[in-house]
Amino acid sequence: MEAHIVEWLNLSIRWIHIITGIAWIGASFYFNFLENSLNRTVNLRDELAGNLWAVHGGGFYYLEKYKHSPEKIPKDLHWFKWEAYFTLLSGLTLLAVVYYYNASIYMVDPSIADISAFQAVTGGIITLIASWFIYDLMCKSPLVNNMKLFALIGFILVVLLAYGLSQFLSARAAYIHIGALIGTIMVLNVFFVIIPSQKSMVKSAINGDAGDPTLGKKALMRSIHNNYMTLPVLFIMISNHFPSTFGHENSWLVLSALVLVGVGVRHWFNLKGKGIKNIWLLPVSIILLISIVIYTLPKTEAIADINLTKDSPITISDLTALNIIEKHCISCHSEKPSSTLFSTAPKGLMFDSYISIKTNAKSIKAQAVNSSIMPLGNATNMQSKERQQLGIWLDSLDKQ
Ligand code: HEC
Repeated sequence: MEAHIVEWLNLSIRWIHIITGIAWIGASFYFNFLENSLNRTVNLRDELAGNLWAVHGGGFYYLEKYKHSPEKIPKDLHWFKWEAYFTLLSGLTLLAVVYYYNASIYMVDPSIADISAFQAVTGGIITLIASWFIYDLMCKSPLVNNMKLFALIGFILVVLLAYGLSQFLSARAAYIHIGALIGTIMVLNVFFVIIPSQKSMVKSAINGDAGDPTLGKKALMRSIHNNYMTLPVLFIMISNHFPSTFGHENSWLVLSALVLVGVGVRHWFNLKGKGIKNIWLLPVSIILLISIVIYTLPKTEAIADINLTKDSPITISDLTALNIIEKHCISCHSEKPSSTLFSTAPKGLMFDSYISIKTNAKSIKAQAVNSSIMPLGNATNMQSKERQQLGIWLDSLDKQ
């Protein structure tokens, strides 16, 4: 019953998180496009910075951007902020429902660090909060004036943090926390800097004074940071579902490279939007992505370990393999899971029958042989020898 409710909470909150995330990032993409596409020269009234005609959804739209604030601030001024706030709120709730609630299996991996669920959760929360303060301090220091150095130091901190977390939390939890902390920084940028700056802009327009120009500058800087963080954060969030990223033995390195790919692609789009042609950035990002694909290729050395030669082919009997699955997987992946954490088999995967094991051989191999993602949190203490045996047996299924 409880597990069933948690599953539906997970699904519903994830749904809200994705909807609000799309609304937020979508609006930010739209305004980026707008800035880059405004007509800034032809037939403009003096007070305008630019205008744009567009056709969408069965109608024509005409939009004007003012150089400065309009003479009178309209009563119905639309603000873009709730999308961002709700993305953070739903994201943190999701983090709590999925990771913190079942921290002993989702956050703790005894083969990485011998910590308690409480320590793992506390470490995760402290990381999120501390990252914001460090980033905010960096923004308030003179470093912020040197964009390239700022980016370099920011990236090095992400790499260090990804490495640090991967020595402490389960790989999956380490990934989600890096994603969550980047997302948190982006939303807090909106909350603490961008929206207050817009409020002061509106206030000074009403009072007719010049306002504080440094506020606008700071907000612009945070907007630029957010712009560069969008693609990496999305990449990290979805890679959490793909075992060759967080399941790799150097998961932190894979994550760091994914961040670079995201920033590279983003920068290319930004340049393109400004009409600057760059020929190397996109190809280099794609080459980096392909390098990650190659780097994360499953290793075959596991089998070499048991001295497999042509003359003495090792075979693993069906019985041995099924016993391994029975011992390490069936408590969750069964029609009636005995684990108290799940009322139905996770992802609908049940390994009660030979046929279903055979059908899912590839994903079983990805999760339990090429990586040690399953059993979740290595709840059943599966040994590497058992993984090798399972791998050899799964391979032999192909040859039947
Ligand atoms: C403690 C419970 C538990 C045990 C034991 C367990 N799993 Fe899982 N398994 C899960 C959960 C939870 C998920 C869904 C993970 C997610 O949300 O991405 C899952 C997902 C999977 C997936 C699908 C992954 C994907 O994202 O497509 C495979 C394949 C899998 N498990 C195989 C195994 C194998 C093989 C074993 C035994 C070696 C095993 N599991 C043991 C809980 C468990």
